[in-house]
Amino acid sequence: MSLKNKVLNYLETSGDEFVSGQQLADDLKVSRTAIWKAISELRKEGALINAVTNKGYYLVRESQKLSLFSLEKELKDFEVHYLEEVDSTNSYCKKLPTSDVFKKTVVVASKQSSGRGRRGRTFVSPDGGIYFSLLIDSHNNNEDNLLITSIASVSVARAIKKVCNVDCKIKWVNDIFIKERKVCGILTEGVIDMEVGKIKSMVVGIGINFSTPMDEFPADLKDIVTSIYDNEQAIPNNVSRTMLVKEVVTEIYNIWDDLPNKDFLNDYRSKSNVIGKSVTIYNRDNSVQNGVAIAINDSAHLIVELEDKTEIEIGTGEVTIRVTK
Ligand code: BTN
Repeated sequence: MSLKNKVLNYLETSGDEFVSGQQLADDLKVSRTAIWKAISELRKEGALINAVTNKGYYLVRESQKLSLFSLEKELKDFEVHYLEEVDSTNSYCKKLPTSDVFKKTVVVASKQSSGRGRRGRTFVSPDGGIYFSLLIDSHNNNEDNLLITSIASVSVARAIKKVCNVDCKIKWVNDIFIKERKVCGILTEGVIDMEVGKIKSMVVGIGINFSTPMDEFPADLKDIVTSIYDNEQAIPNNVSRTMLVKEVVTEIYNIWDDLPNKDFLNDYRSKSNVIGKSVTIYNRDNSVQNGVAIAINDSAHLIVELEDKTEIEIGTGEVTIRVTK
């Protein structure tokens, strides 16, 4: 174990006690300079370590800020990348070197300069939000792979309820809403293995407006987006960004590893803000159809009854829908 991690463990197990630099150096059998360097490294990674003259060091547990330190602590089985700012966590994730052995990976950022949305749109990603991408090993069964965006939607809605106690709705297939306004978008991209022509892994990118003040958004979005909290000061003490990321990631994997169990679809249906509503369907060939969304089936496809009473089944990613009533 590196000295940095030994120091961290020591501070963690000391609970609320102060630990002097000398005590750390003696017990870990290194110099005080080495301890000082390890503490600086931990702080650079985002650990909140207070130092008080004549008392020593003290680890402050929860931080509102995202950091490599806090994320690695919560996501022990993952390769974690944290960036204060990046063009797009999805793009970054797709460029990571691959190895033969799959490693669960998550890339997290506090801001994106070129956040990407579905259909080549921009995803405005200012400070205050949480932007992260998960590299997920695909299943052999492509039916499962096609469920990943719905799984992510249910996971985000469940996690926001659990961590922030806020109810969300899901707009089929990948938008999360709080009171009729979008709070989160999800973009899933497949990584293809060119040799066998199959999906090797998937990058699931999630952008959540966490404590993003409305004036951070351009005028055309102000009336259609929202944030879980109005600003940084409104975040309750017992809530943190790290907790929310951990909860979403854990929930996604719990569902993913439990497939073919499709119980999560019950939540997908009950949290839907589309079923029972009139919708306009924008097809890829530019044609438009009107109807009423009547159900979501076991493939997470939306069943729409058209004006002529015929029913069509829409697969995830095939079309865009607009709820009209
Ligand atoms: C959408 O609403 O159209 C999807 C938005 C997806 C945004 C997330 S933020 C993290 C990840 N990185 C990106 O560039 N996009 C996704």
